[in-house]
Amino acid sequence: MRVPTLSCLAEAVIVSSLFANLAAAQVKYSTWMASSIMSRSQGIMTGKGGSSELLQAGITQRALTALVAQYPHDNVTAGARAYVQRSAASVAPFTLNASYDALAYPLDRLSTGNAMLSLYSASDASTSTFRPAADALRLSIDLNRRNPEGGLWYFTYPQWSYLDGMYSFAPFYTVYTVGTAGSSGSDANATAALDDVDFQLDLLWTHTRNATTGLLAHGYDASKTAVWANPSTGASPHVWGRSLGWYAVALVETLEALPKSACTVRGNVLEKLRLLAGALVEAVDPVTGGWWQVLDQPGRAGNYIESSGSAMFAYALLKGARLGYLGGANATLAAKATQVGVRGHGYLTQTFLVKEANGTLGYNGTVSVCSLNSTASYEYYVGQPINYNSVLGSAAYVLASLEVEQLQIS
Ligand SMILES: *[C@@H]1O[C@H](CO)[C@@H](O)[C@H](O)[C@H]1NC(C)=O
Ligand SMILES: *[C@@H]1O[C@H](CO)[C@@H](O)[C@H](O)[C@H]1NC(C)=O
Ligand SMILES: *[C@@H]1O[C@H](CO)[C@@H](O)[C@H](O)[C@H]1NC(C)=O
Ligand SMILES: *[C@@H]1O[C@H](CO)[C@@H](O)[C@H](O)[C@H]1NC(C)=O
Ligand SMILES: *[C@@H]1O[C@H](CO)[C@@H](O)[C@H](O)[C@H]1NC(C)=O
Ligand SMILES: *[C@@H]1O[C@H](CO)[C@@H](O)[C@H](O)[C@H]1NC(C)=O
Ligand SMILES: *[C@@H]1O[C@H](CO)[C@@H](O)[C@H](O)[C@H]1NC(C)=O
Ligand SMILES: *[C@@H]1O[C@H](CO)[C@@H](O)[C@H](O)[C@H]1NC(C)=O
Repeated sequence: MRVPTLSCLAEAVIVSSLFANLAAAQVKYSTWMASSIMSRSQGIMTGKGGSSELLQAGITQRALTALVAQYPHDNVTAGARAYVQRSAASVAPFTLNASYDALAYPLDRLSTGNAMLSLYSASDASTSTFRPAADALRLSIDLNRRNPEGGLWYFTYPQWSYLDGMYSFAPFYTVYTVGTAGSSGSDANATAALDDVDFQLDLLWTHTRNATTGLLAHGYDASKTAVWANPSTGASPHVWGRSLGWYAVALVETLEALPKSACTVRGNVLEKLRLLAGALVEAVDPVTGGWWQVLDQPGRAGNYIESSGSAMFAYALLKGARLGYLGGANATLAAKATQVGVRGHGYLTQTFLVKEANGTLGYNGTVSVCSLNSTASYEYYVGQPINYNSVLGSAAYVLASLEVEQLQIS
């Protein structure tokens, strides 16, 4: 059953008392989806969830942390706070295991570091593993292989860098650096770290951006030998929605974490965000308000509006506008981004939410992993399976919902 509007809640068959309470109150999609994610035990690492398991934990922690910050007194908040800690505690043993090979995981592993840093307290024994686990993640950046230009490999594929990795790398490295060096940024190592954040974002930008559309392809091969590599830039041929979604979110969340004193880095990231936001506003599907799985091939046979990339774009545009990153130079852009973000979120709500008989909310329409370890052809991207209740989509939807709700409150 689809849930087009909140008013349809009256027709719901509610089983669980928790969800009955939620429905009786003025339920918010953010808290409803967050409760549902928790009820499915998503984002708790078991070691059996494949190579994206760390990313699932990281984005779940991110969404629930944002929810706790926005609704400190909501009924789901205490549970969400405890859940973030449980998720972090599920990751720490993997990161601290001496036999654990950080490089056996993609850069996605770094997405789990921010919650550990914020939860760690010297006086709270239940968080004692979080600081060393975050330090191990930080050390793994130094160990990560790089291509001859200095670009971080995303995973085990020699010289390949993906947009996806920036979501996990850039905000964590920034938060860790600022927290360690203090906000002065005067420490030479801190300056080098923030310059590296800037540099990694820029290498991907330079190699993958199409100047005509302003959109960035999934990744590049610095050796230009991959079957899909563009002979001059090394770029892969297509713009994959979710990978660009991760990159857009990375720009916003990095800006949020960067100290004001890091003016050059801030200026560079801000410029990218403004250009990309303009391109995303142009690339949105005018009919639905969502974004295509293969963004550079709108309307082509087999293509479809994908629910994780769309949620990430809505979130990045709304949050970028709210924090003033899109205004200033161009107030039109901020207004447009807000309008497009709200409309996109509304489409996701109407189209992909599934109200289960037990009162939980499901989230549909999220493509499974798309890898450059493939032909990277159009047929490959539109042929990958679509998952129901992928937390990569539903957690991004929570983040977008929180932004929409802030607009409604203010
Ligand atoms: C939330 O908590 C308050 C106070 O504990 C209670 O009165 C209210 O019924 C709860 N609402 C829901 C939706 O559980
Ligand atoms: C609610 O129902 C859905 C669909 O059957 C199921 O996947 C989910 O685990 C259920 N959740 C709870 C808390 O029972
Ligand atoms: C550490 O990793 C090794 C090798 O993967 C595994 O056998 C062992 O159970 C792990 N230990 C813990 C505490 O997770
Ligand atoms: C700076 O980095 C170097 C090389 O990684 C390290 O040996 C040194 O301890 C760092 N200094 C500070 C103040 O962190
Ligand atoms: C850039 O985008 C334009 C417009 O879609 C397209 O014609 C061109 O082939 C693209 N360039 C590359 C290198 O993909
Ligand atoms: C401002 O943003 C709008 C909307 O994206 C765009 O059409 C316009 O070209 C931008 N103006 C400048 C000066 O960048
Ligand atoms: C999810 O979407 C697919 C494709 O549109 C559809 O076949 C499937 O029934 C949907 N799942 C649910 C639970 O609505
Ligand atoms: C990359 O693709 C090849 C061919 O499908 C496969 O054998 C290999 O396991 C893949 N590599 C990884 C790390 O998944």
